[in-house]
This record gives sequence, structure tokens and C-alpha cells, in this order.
Amino acid sequence: MASTLDFDDKAARHIDAIYSTPDIAATRVAVFRALNPSCGETALDLGCGPGYMLRDLAASVGATGQAIGVDISDPMLALAKHRCEGLPQVRLERADALTLPVPDASVDLACVMQVYAYVTELDAALAELRRVLKPGGRAIILDTDFAGVVWESRDRARMRRVMQAYDAHVAWPDLPRILPARLRKAGLTMARVEAVPVVTTHYHAHSYVHGIARFIHAFVVNHGITKDEADAWLAEFDALEAEGAFLFSVNRFMFTVGRG
Ligand SMILES: C[S@@+](CC[C@H](N)C(=O)[O-])C[C@H]1O[C@@H](n2cnc3c(N)ncnc32)[C@H](O)[C@@H]1O
Repeated sequence: MASTLDFDDKAARHIDAIYSTPDIAATRVAVFRALNPSCGETALDLGCGPGYMLRDLAASVGATGQAIGVDISDPMLALAKHRCEGLPQVRLERADALTLPVPDASVDLACVMQVYAYVTELDAALAELRRVLKPGGRAIILDTDFAGVVWESRDRARMRRVMQAYDAHVAWPDLPRILPARLRKAGLTMARVEAVPVVTTHYHAHSYVHGIARFIHAFVVNHGITKDEADAWLAEFDALEAEGAFLFSVNRFMFTVGRG
């Protein structure tokens, strides 16, 4: 299995909650517009996770189209199945990004959001994406580069230590920076790249930063950060919010890709 993180039941529920926030819904709108799906098309959501985008793609390609959701995590596929109930054009498959259960040149549009950073064999995964795209087909690849995070803390050395430890949760923490060269190597063309920012001065329960802070906390306590330090790192955000001093910003990079 070519992935650095096991999206078990707990992680899947955590991601589902984070992805229900308006911050991530706004990212999906940007990706959806760039994909521009139409009736009758075949759409692939690779690493479909809890199925938010898959549901929108399925509703857009309609009964004459097909929306294929692929993921390696059974808990994620269960969430996607529930979310896409009543949409017979949805097909869900448990498979790896390296071996997609899709014929050659059969996909009009694909989206791969927050997935390739976890895939150790990136070049093989990009070659597999190229294999399934139709000539003229398009794909959106979206990933985050946490090296560009701007996150207020009065203990900046601790913030650096925590974020450095969090890098280990993915195979490619710098994926947006290395992707242009990797796309070219895979024979894919890059039509456009845009930054989709998540920026906020509030730390509240229905926000991306609140959810991702807990996700980071859970990861780093097992990867070189003591529980006391991770607890103190997390607790500071409520204190900053209470003072009106909180700020978080990160860019999610959206690449529009063609088969070449
Ligand atoms: C952070 S979630 C993103 C979910 C979804 N793309 C979204 O943005 O809402 C990452 C997903 O990629 C899946 N994944 C990771 N490595 C994979 C691989 N090698 N093949 C297929 N899916 C993979 C995980 O199981 C998880 O559901």
C-alpha cells in the first residue's frame, strides 16, 4: 500500500469533520469550478475520502455520466457510500493510486485532493493518472505546503518543532514545490496553478484550523514531541483567541493538469 498514513476509523471521522467546515467547502468550490463537469462525463475522485466532492461530481455528470470514487481506506469508503446514497452513477472502489480500477483513456475529469502527498511512489501514481485520462481530459491536483504556514504563537521555536514533526505524516511535505517537475516527467501538462488560501483570525470549533490543530496534536505526540509540549502548543490557540490575537493562514495549491 503506497501511503504514509493509515486513515482508520478515528482518522476518517476526524477528516470528515474538518472537511465539513466552510473553509474546506470554499476550496471545493474552487476545485469544482476549475473541473467544470458536465452531463454525461466520466469523473474520477482519486482518494475520495469522505465523499464530499464525489457527491457534487456525481450530481453534475448526472444519470448519463459516471462518478468513480477510489480510496485505499475502508472507513473513508464507508463515509463516501453514505454521503453518495441515492446516486446510482457513483461507483466506489477500494484501490491504490498506483493501480486504478479504470480502463486506459476513459476519464474526462479527475480530482486528486490532498492525496499525492501521502503516496510514496509519486512518479508511478502520476503515470497511472495519465494512463486513465482521455486525450483532452483534465485533472485537478490539490495539495498543501505547510512550510508556508503563517500561524501566530508566542513560542515560535515550539511552533517550528511541532510543524517539523508534522512533516513526517506525509511522504512529500513539499509536494506543491516538486510537482511541476514531476508532472513534466510523467508526460502530464500543467495548464495553470493557483493558490487557494485558508486564512482566519478566529479559532473556533467549526474551522479548518481548529480541526487540523487537533489532527497535528494527535500525530506529533507519537513523533518526537512530548505530550506536555504538544498540549501547551494546542492550548495556546484558545488563549490567543480569547485575547483577539489569533491568526492562521496556509495555501492549498491547485494545479490544473492535462494529459499532454
Ligand atoms: C486527506 S484525505 C483527502 C480526501 C478527499 N480527497 C478530500 O479532499 O476531501 C486523503 C485521502 O487519500 C486516501 N489515500 C491515501 N493514499 C492513497 C493511495 N495510495 N491510494 C488511494 N487513496 C489514498 C486516504 O485514504 C484518504 O481518504
